[in-house]
Amino acid sequence: MLDTTRSLLHAPLCYATLSTNESLVHRRRYPDHRPHGGWHDFARAPSAAHNSRWVASSGSVTDFRSPACALGFFFCESHPPFPLNLGHLMKHFLNTQDWSRPEIDAVLREAAAFKRERLGDQLKGKTIALVFFNPSLRTRSSFEIGAFQLGGHAVVLAPGKDAWPIEFDLGTVMDGDTEEHIAEVARVLSRYVDLIGVRAFPKFQNWSVDREDHVLRGFAKYSTVPVINMETITHPCQELAHALALQEHFGSEDLRGKKYVLTWTYHPRPLNTAVANSALTIATRLGMDVTLLCPTPEYLLDARYMDWARDNVAANGGSLAVSHDPQVAYAGADVIYAKSWGAIPYFGRWEQEKPIRDAHQHFMVDSDKMALTNNAVFSHCLPLRRNVKASDAVMDSPACIAIDEAENRLHVQKAVMVALTGLGTRDSGLG
Ligand code: CP
Repeated sequence: MLDTTRSLLHAPLCYATLSTNESLVHRRRYPDHRPHGGWHDFARAPSAAHNSRWVASSGSVTDFRSPACALGFFFCESHPPFPLNLGHLMKHFLNTQDWSRPEIDAVLREAAAFKRERLGDQLKGKTIALVFFNPSLRTRSSFEIGAFQLGGHAVVLAPGKDAWPIEFDLGTVMDGDTEEHIAEVARVLSRYVDLIGVRAFPKFQNWSVDREDHVLRGFAKYSTVPVINMETITHPCQELAHALALQEHFGSEDLRGKKYVLTWTYHPRPLNTAVANSALTIATRLGMDVTLLCPTPEYLLDARYMDWARDNVAANGGSLAVSHDPQVAYAGADVIYAKSWGAIPYFGRWEQEKPIRDAHQHFMVDSDKMALTNNAVFSHCLPLRRNVKASDAVMDSPACIAIDEAENRLHVQKAVMVALTGLGTRDSGLG
C-alpha cells in the first residue's frame, strides 16, 4: 500500500516540494512567522499533477489515517512526510477550480475523517473572522462550531450592522455611507486572525459588476492570511459538502458514470447563481455525466462556469448536456440536485423575468419526476421552500440527503481550515 501510494503521490509531491521550497525553509526556520503577501491566489499544480487520481483508483474509500494515506501527506523518497497544509503557501479557498484535483480529494478524505472523529486540537490557538454581508444559518453555525471543536475560535462580523460599513472601490472619496476601506479592514483583521471567511452575495443589479466578485477579491487582495469563500458568486464549501454526501451515498470516491441532473426550480424571487455555478463545477470535476436542466436558454449559467464545466469534462471525462425538458432530463438520473436562480440576462430588470419564472413552477421536484430516475438521490443546499422547490414527499423520502449534505458543511470546512492554517494534520506528529 505504501509503495503504491508513494508512486501515485509522486507527481503532486514534486510540485509541492519545488513550489514551496522557499516557504518551507522559512517556515522551518521561523515556525511562528505568518506569511505576508506575495502568495495571493497561488497558482495550482502544473498539469502533471493536476487532475491525477492519486489515490484509490479502484474508488474505494481510503482511511487517510493510515501512515501512507494520511490526508495531506505526500511521500517522496528524498523527503520526510510533508503535510498538505496550505497555510505556508498563503493559499486562499475562493473556488474549488483553483485547487488541484489531488487537493480536493485530500480535503474530502480529511473531511470524512473529521466526520468519524469530531474533536481535535488542529486549530488550537487559531482564530477565524467570519464576515457576513448576508444572512446564514448553516454557514455561520458550521464554521463557528467547527473552529470550536478543533480548539479554535471564530469571531462573527456583519459590516454595516455590528461592524463599520466597508468601501471596496479604490480612489473613492468616502463621503457617503462607508466608514473604512477594505485596504484597512483586511489588513487589520489579518493582524488578529489566521483565516478570514467572507459571505457576500451579488447586488442583483448588474451582473457584469457582480461577476467580478469584488468583495471577496478585495479581501483576498489585502489580506495577509488565507481567505475562504463562504458564498459569493460561487459556494465552494457547499460543493465539498455535496461531493462528500454523494461519495457517502454511493459508497465510493469515484462518481464517474453517474447521471447528475442540476435542475432549476421555481422560487418567487430571483436567487443567486452561486450554488448552481458550484454544482456544475464540482459535478463535472468529479467526472459525472451532467445535465443542466433549466426553463429556457436564458437560464444558462455565466460563460465562466459553463467554460469551467466544459474544461472539467475535457480533463476528467464524463459529459455535459443542457435540457429544457424535465421528462428527458430526469430519465435514468442517479442524482437530482435542485436550485433556483435568476436568469442572468434579466439582472436589474427582474419584473421582465417574472413571467418566465412563473410559467415554470412545474419544475418543482416531486415524486412523479423522481419516479423517472434510476432511483436517484436528491439533494439541495438549503434553505428550501417546501412544495415550491421540492415537495414534502421528496424532502421526507429516503432519497433526500440534504440533511447529510448540510452536516457535511461542518466536516469539510474543518478540513479546509486545517489545510489553510498549516498546523499539521491529525496523527502527523508535526502539528
Ligand atoms: N447552504 C447554506 O449556505 O446555508 P446558509 O445560507 O444557511 O448558510
